[in-house]
Order: sequence, then structure tokens, then C-alpha cells
Amino acid sequence: MPDTGATDKGKSRTTLDFYHSPTQFRFDTWNNLEEYSSRLRTRQMRKADVAALTRKTKDAIALLQTIEKYNAFPSREDFILLWQLFDNQDFDLLSRIVARIARALIGGTYRSRQINVRVPTEVEDKSEINQYFDESSHQQRPYFEVLFVDESSPQDVKLIRESLRKLRRPEDHFIYDIVVVPSFEDALIAVLFNYNIQVAVIRYGFPLRSEHHLEILQRYLVKIDESEYEDSLDIERGPLLGNLLAELRPELDLYLVTDAAVEGIAGNVTQKFSRIFYQQEDYLDLHLNILRGIQLRYQTPFFTALRKYSRQPTGVFHAMPISRGKSITKSHWIKDMVQFYGINIFLAETSATSGGLDSLLQPHGPIKKAQELAARAFGAKRTYFVTNGTSTANKIVVQALVKPGDIVLIDRDCHKSHHYGMVLSGAQVCYLDSYPLSDYSMYGAVPLREIKEKLLRYKKAGLLHRVKMLLLTNCTFDGVVYNVERVMEECLAIKPDLVFLWDEAWFAFAGFTPTYRRRTAMATAKRLKARYRSKEYALEYADYQKRMAKCKDADLLHEKLLPDPATVRIRVYATQSTHKSLTSLRQGSMIHVYDQQFNHKVQEPFNEAFMTHTSTSPNYQILASLDIGRRQVELEGFELVQKQIELAMTIRERVASHPLLSRYFRFLEAKDMIPAEFRPSGIGSYFDPDKGWRNLRMEEAWATDDFVIDLTRLTLYLGLTGVDGDTFKNSYLMDKYGIQINKTSRNTVLFMTNIGTTRSSVAFLIEVLVKIATEFDQQREDASRVERKLIDKRIKSLTKDLPPLPDFSHFHEAFCAGSKRKVTTSDGDIRRAFFYAYDDENCEYMTIDAATIGEAMKSGRSLVSASFVTPYPPGFPVLVPGQVISEEILAFMRALDVKEIHGYNPEIGLQLFTEELLQRATKEAG
Ligand SMILES: Cc1ncc(COP(=O)(O)O)c(C=O)c1O
Repeated sequence: MPDTGATDKGKSRTTLDFYHSPTQFRFDTWNNLEEYSSRLRTRQMRKADVAALTRKTKDAIALLQTIEKYNAFPSREDFILLWQLFDNQDFDLLSRIVARIARALIGGTYRSRQINVRVPTEVEDKSEINQYFDESSHQQRPYFEVLFVDESSPQDVKLIRESLRKLRRPEDHFIYDIVVVPSFEDALIAVLFNYNIQVAVIRYGFPLRSEHHLEILQRYLVKIDESEYEDSLDIERGPLLGNLLAELRPELDLYLVTDAAVEGIAGNVTQKFSRIFYQQEDYLDLHLNILRGIQLRYQTPFFTALRKYSRQPTGVFHAMPISRGKSITKSHWIKDMVQFYGINIFLAETSATSGGLDSLLQPHGPIKKAQELAARAFGAKRTYFVTNGTSTANKIVVQALVKPGDIVLIDRDCHKSHHYGMVLSGAQVCYLDSYPLSDYSMYGAVPLREIKEKLLRYKKAGLLHRVKMLLLTNCTFDGVVYNVERVMEECLAIKPDLVFLWDEAWFAFAGFTPTYRRRTAMATAKRLKARYRSKEYALEYADYQKRMAKCKDADLLHEKLLPDPATVRIRVYATQSTHKSLTSLRQGSMIHVYDQQFNHKVQEPFNEAFMTHTSTSPNYQILASLDIGRRQVELEGFELVQKQIELAMTIRERVASHPLLSRYFRFLEAKDMIPAEFRPSGIGSYFDPDKGWRNLRMEEAWATDDFVIDLTRLTLYLGLTGVDGDTFKNSYLMDKYGIQINKTSRNTVLFMTNIGTTRSSVAFLIEVLVKIATEFDQQREDASRVERKLIDKRIKSLTKDLPPLPDFSHFHEAFCAGSKRKVTTSDGDIRRAFFYAYDDENCEYMTIDAATIGEAMKSGRSLVSASFVTPYPPGFPVLVPGQVISEEILAFMRALDVKEIHGYNPEIGLQLFTEELLQRATKEAG
């Protein structure tokens, strides 16, 4: 039960600390109010209890009145009514009205009809105003809210609302209501708390501070440094607020209403506004702009074109008998296909690229437009749709930018598509080691020091000009997130035109919530470009140059480096599996580009690479779903991602605070997955079972630390259950309860929340974990001494006997020119090694037991892998073609108890290069 959350001294805030989400707190407070008022209705209580309950009811109404000032529903008038009923002690009507409000809020029905809390639902449904909500076509019009920042009186607010309502027309595609807040701080709270806000109209003459001091809402304010707004003049405040809102929620349409000439303000701070109105009195212009702004985000050029096409009568005298469903509906044997999928999908299947459609290989119509809209939504300069997953997107980018002989720095535990990309492009591959998390049989991410060390070595060897690209996975499968800005900044200081490819296969959603967005490739590229152009940076860099004048190259590793603004170029690419974290059909993926050098010399090879990997019959349904997925994130990405994070927090909290669950399970936290040296904030956990979420400074960790944890990826540690990850996944979660997960390690399983996760699915998961934990309890209670010993042995094996994770060993000298250089470098020609293996006489096979490969190793022979060897888990190659096999790698492979190892057949053994081939290849390499 939440308390009032007010900051009055002396009030307990214990329960509030357990609310990470004001939305949850809001809904629970309405539910509590319903319960208090309905209990008061019965009046069968002691006097003291009635008094206590009356006080609670009063506090709850007061609290909600403050919270609801940031929402259009329930309205100010609704609260006047609630107070009247409370004062008249009409708890019967009060509880019924509160119940209606709570239901409308929690069920979201206020979005689809005008709720008049005073009238019964049936009458209300037929009301005149609801005709504007419910179109005769039965299609519900999307609803949103418009924020007005204005110090208006309640009468003025009423006037604005009524003036805008009068402008509604039945043919409008959307419907909106307004929320008016009186200050800068209130506006910030409103856009972060109220997901319905899509538009902000910033008027003039409003103060900085909010008069409300609700702690749960004030938490939003700690995310921004207000000091720079303290001294702002009235005239500047609107534009400053606009900039800040655009940073927090870039999708919002912003309008400025002013009574002064803002062009004069330094730095043209009005760029973020869609339009500026001078002393607005006429609402029609504003109203039409508001609707048009939403329409610009709502449009889906390719989906719309495809729908239109599917309705046109056409005769097909070309390929694709399935088009129009003809080959199916005519069939005697496959009619169930149409029954299952419905006819529309076949009406939309065509090989046409004209007639209103477009070609992905050379887009000029609706696909081009849809890609442009996606670029806007994801903060890119350009976006390309890919219909064969990020596996293909990665190969396109690598082929486009890397030519044979170019050096690429790449994390060794990256997705296999990158390793194949290296083979295809003929890159000299320099593998980077991630820090190991041996206790959990998984890797973390690559420390910046490791990257800098490699770059500085190339500099010393005089080879920096050949280093083309740094390729990293952000976030990793297990949810480790890089400090993207720091990595790019320091690398650019060493190599100012380095190309970055960030594999964001799992991170497409991150662009739609402010804290996560800061660590995405596109947002960082944009920020860095602006930073290096600024006067402030020029001064910072001049200062840095003075400080670093005496610094030797050898010391650069220990310094925080800054790039030279005169030479730095921002060249950033990100690949995202839209289908993994946003709405898209399987294989829907996007390449986002923010490259200051994307001129014809880059664009042409990019187009060639795109052609190389793209089918001439790309799937239209996937393309349409990418278009729709983009619409969704531009209109509700903020809401859905916020909820996804909140639900992940709820799962973490429930497991940590549940006495039974916490005996067997725990979710890994920052302190488990990120060594302390990479967490300068000192923050190791975002939740404490005793103290709740408060004071855990997650924002601070995200602002400063080298790595942070994506909370929506929940790694459940199973060491204390005695059940390994694979068995837990298959025999417990899947077989018994139908819960599907993907990744496991020896002693962990990975759960994820996504934008489709619901509160009930979270409740189901917790319920299942409780059932499994109860089963474990029962097993232990019933176990004989021998059985108990067996369980203990299994627990020991999962918690203590874990094989250390091996680093990348090195390439054999036949494939590593750098091994003979004065300053040795470790990059290898993986492509040469890969194709040598095509000739059988170059290869032999050895099993990994001590008698076979062990003896060969003892004899001093170089054992070099001729293929990729990838165990699942961990799911990345422990051996690549040309790599020397080390004792550690063998020990790791022997200790692995996984069933699936790609590239390794236990009966035949590892595929190795013969000694003759190695001698020949070494000679050929010169
Ligand atoms: C890091 C990473 N990159 C790329 C991919 C490939 O993505 P897709 O399945 O969209 O081809 C995956 C797939 O799991 C991945 O984990």
C-alpha cells in the first residue's frame, strides 16, 4: 500500500521506495482509494477505524489530485466532484465514481471515449461528444494529449480546452485532449510521466520551479542538471525548455508561442520547434498544425501502398502463383493455408515493383520514403531496410566499408555473421578479448583499454592508416552496455576517421527512452558531431593539448584522450534486428548510418554490397512491418519501452524480496557482471531488498560507468538449484510450463522483457518460479542422505567447478603477417585460412582427448584450426580458421558439457591444417 509520497518531514516513505514507476504508484493509489471509500460505505466499523479510513481517503484524493494534474483524465472538474462527495460523506457515490475512474484508467478506455464520471456508462456511450471518439466505421481514432506550458488560471484553461474542442471535425483522424502545466519543472515531469503527450505548446512567462513536491515525480527532475536553466530570462525559457523536451522525447512535436522576437536569442535556440506562433489567439491554425504533425508520424508509405495495391484488380502474367492466393484457392489440397493466414496476406504478395510499389534495390517511391521516416525516428542520417536479418545487415556494412587487407578490430565473442563477414571481405582481423565472467560461463564486453592498446600498437608499427573499423556488440546478448561515447571519443583521438560498426541487434528499442538512448550509436554520433563543432570543445581541446604536450605515446593508454576537432570525422553505422525488440516480422532489420563521409565513394560500394546480399525478391510483408514498426515507436515507443523496463524491475524486485525464491534464485546485477574497475560510480545494484529502488542512482551509473546492465535482460543465476541452464530451460520452463527462453549458460538462464510483455505474463513467470522453488524445497525435504549428497555435488559443480574461459590465442604465422614485424601485431588473414580448408589434402582431424591431440601438442607441433568451432552456449567461435589451438582452449572444450558444437564432430575430431600446408602457407605469406 503506498503512502502519500509527499515530502513533508516525518512522513514514512518506506513503501514509496519500492515504487520504481510513478504509473504503477498512480494506479495502485486509485485502487486503494476505491477500497477505502467502499469500506467507508458500509460503516460497520469502530469509530476510530472510520476516522482512520476517512483520513486515508482524504490523503489519497489529495495525492491523486496532484498526480492527475499531469494528465488530461480525470479532469479538474472530476476532482471538484470527488471533494464535494467526500465533504458530504457520500461514500456510496464516491466509491462508485472512483471505481469508474480507476477502471477507465487501468483499462485505458478513457482513450477511446469521453468519460463523464457523473453519468452512467450506457448514457455516456451515446453522448454527442463520443461520436467524435467512435467513428461510424467502428474504427477507433487514436487518442493523444497536448501539453500546454502556461501559467493560466483555471478559467483560461477551460477556455483553451473548449476552443480546441469546438474545432473537432468528424473527419479528423485523431482526437486529443489538453493538459496545462504552469512551470518549466512541471513540463518536464509531464512529458516523462504522461505517455499520452505527443505535442507540447510552450507559451510565455512561466516560472522555473514547480509548486508540487511529490517525491515520486520529483525523481524525474534529478535526471537533468537544472543549474543552467536557473538564470534563464523569461524570453529564453521557452526555447530552453523546447531543447530539453526534444532531448528527452525527440518524437514530440513542439510549438512555441511567444510575444517577443526570438530570432535575436543567441544560438538560434528555436530550431527544435515545428512552428513558432506570435501571440496566438486563433486556435484553428494551432489545431490544424497539431493534427498534421501527428499525421506525419502516423503515415506508413510502404504499408499504405501495399494495402492499396492489394485492393486493385490485376491479372498476373508473371511469377508468383501464390499472388492473389490463386494457386491456393484453386487447390484441392492446400486450402487450409488461406484458412490459417487469411486472404489479405496473399493479396499483398506480388513481384511487382511498379503500380504504386517500389524496389528495395533501387528505391524511389514508398520504400524510399519509409526509409527516410525510419532514419528520422532512429536519429540516423540514412536508414536501409534489410529483409534477411541483422546477419545480412552486418555483412552488407562490412563489405561496403572494408576491402581486402584493411584491419578490423572486432570483439571475439561477436555474432557469427561478423566472422563470416571478415572471411568475405578479406579483412585482416584483430580479435579483441572481452573480460571473462568465468563464474557464470559467459563473457562481458571489451574494455576500452584493450581497444586502445591495440590501436596504439598499430600506431607504433606505422599501420594506423590500414586500421579501418572497430566492430562491437552493444548491448551484448547478456545485456552489457558500452559507454559508446567514451569508446568513440578515445578511439577517434588515436584514429580520427575510424569507422564504427555497432551491432545493436538487441538494442533497437533503446532509442526510445532517454537514459538508454544516450548509449546508442546514432544518438552518440549526433552528440559527438555537435560537440566537436562547438566553441566549448575548441577550448577544452586547447587545454587538453597543453596538458598532453609532454605525454609520450606509451602513456596515452592511461590518459583520457580527446580527438582533434580539426581532423575528426564521425563515421558510425548501427545494425538492428527490429524483429528482436520492436514490432516487425521475423528477419526485419535496419542499417542506420551517421557517416560524415557518406559521399559517392562510400555510397557506391555501399550500394554494391547491398545488392550483393539482398534478394531480388525481398519480402514485402517484412518491409511493410518495418514501416509499421517505425510508426509505432514514433507514437508509443516511449510508453512501451518504459513499461518494458518497469516490468523487468518488477520481476527483479519480486525475486529479490520473496523469501522462497531468493533461497534458490537471484538475478545477476551490475556488480556480478561488471568488475568494479569499470564502475567508477561504485554502483553495483539498482535494487536493494531492504531499501527498495531509492537512492540507487541508476541514472548516475548510466551517465558515467564504462559498462552498465540493460535491466530488461534478466540473467537468473541457478547455481543454488543444482540444475544446469539447459535442463532448467527445457525440462522445467518449457516442458512443464510452456515458458520459452533462448539463451542459457552452464548456471544461468536469460529472460527478457519486451514491448509486448504484460503484467499478467510477469505474474505468471513469478508463479512458475514459485512452483519450481517449492518443488526444489520438496525434493530436499524428501531426499535420502545419498540423494542429498548428489544434490550437493551438482551444486558444487555449478558454483565452483567452472572451467576458466579462454582468451583468443593467436593466429599462426602463416596467416599473421604482424607476427614477424618489429612491433608485433596480432591481426590474421582469416579468409586465406578459410579457403585453404576447401582442399581436403590440406587438412587432418584429431579428437580432443589427451591421447590424440594432447600427445601431438606435447611433441611441440603447431595445431591450427582449419574451421570455425562454435559451442552453444556460449554461442561464439572458440576457434576460427588459422587460429592456434592452446591448452586453455582444449581444457575449455573438454570441460564443456553442451550437446551442440558447430564445426566439431566428436567422432572425427577437430579439423586441423597439416604441417605441410602450414609450411607452404608460411612460405607463400613471405
Ligand atoms: C549480436 C547479434 N548480432 C546479429 C544477430 C543476427 O540477427 P538476425 O537474427 O536478425 O539475423 C544476432 C542474433 O542473435 C545477434 O545476437
